[in-house]
Amino acid sequence: MFLNNVLEVSQIFLPQFSFPGMVAVDATAGNGHDTLLLSRLAGKEGRVIAMDVQEAAIDSTRSLLVAEAEFDNVELVLDSHANVKSYLDGQNLQLAVFNLGYLPGGDKSITTNSNEVIKSLEDLLPLLVSGAAVFVTVYPGHLPGQKEAVALEEYFSNLPQKQFSVMKSLFVNQKNSPPQFFIINKR
Ligand SMILES: C[S@@+](CC[C@H](N)C(=O)[O-])C[C@H]1O[C@@H](n2cnc3c(N)ncnc32)[C@H](O)[C@@H]1O
Repeated sequence: MFLNNVLEVSQIFLPQFSFPGMVAVDATAGNGHDTLLLSRLAGKEGRVIAMDVQEAAIDSTRSLLVAEAEFDNVELVLDSHANVKSYLDGQNLQLAVFNLGYLPGGDKSITTNSNEVIKSLEDLLPLLVSGAAVFVTVYPGHLPGQKEAVALEEYFSNLPQKQFSVMKSLFVNQKNSPPQFFIINKR
C-alpha cells in the first residue's frame, strides 16, 4: 500500500460514504475521473450530477464516460457549481466532490474561486443526509489556489461542530505547498 497524493487518499475514503442508489454531485467535472468513480459507486439506480463551466471539460468527461462508464446515471451540466441547487430538485444528497483549481491540460486562467465554492456549499450542506459527506481538494501551489485554500479553511473552521465534523488532510513532508483535502461529514 502506498500513499502517493491526496487524490489517491480521497479515493480510499469515497467508497466509505457511498452506496448504490445514492445521489451525488461532482462539482468540478474536469476530465471526468471523479465523475466516473461516482458513477460506479452510485450504480444503476443512482444519480450523479457533474458540473463544469468549460465546454472542453464537459466534452472530456462525456468521452471518458462513453468509453468506461458501466451505468447511464450521469447528468452533465455546463454551469457553475454556484447554481447547483437548481439541478438537484430538492433531492437529498449523499456525496459531493469539489476537486478545485484549473483543468489539467487546459486554460489555467479558468480556475475555481472560494466565493462560488462557498455559495455552492451553502446550498448543498442543508441537503446532506446524516452520514453524508462533501470532499474538497484544494491546490495552494498556485496563487489563486492559495487564496482559495485560506478562505475555505476559514469557512470550514466555522461550521457548527454539532452538525458537521470537518477533517483536513495533507502530506506534511511534501515541498511547495502540497494539495490539501477536506472531508465535511454531516453528523
Ligand atoms: C482540477 S479540475 C477538476 C478535475 C476533475 N474532477 C477530474 O477528475 O478530472 C477543476 C475544474 O473546475 C472547473 N471549474 C472552475 N470554476 C468552476 C465553477 N464555478 N463551477 C464548476 N466548475 C468549475 C474548471 O473548469 C476545471 O475543469
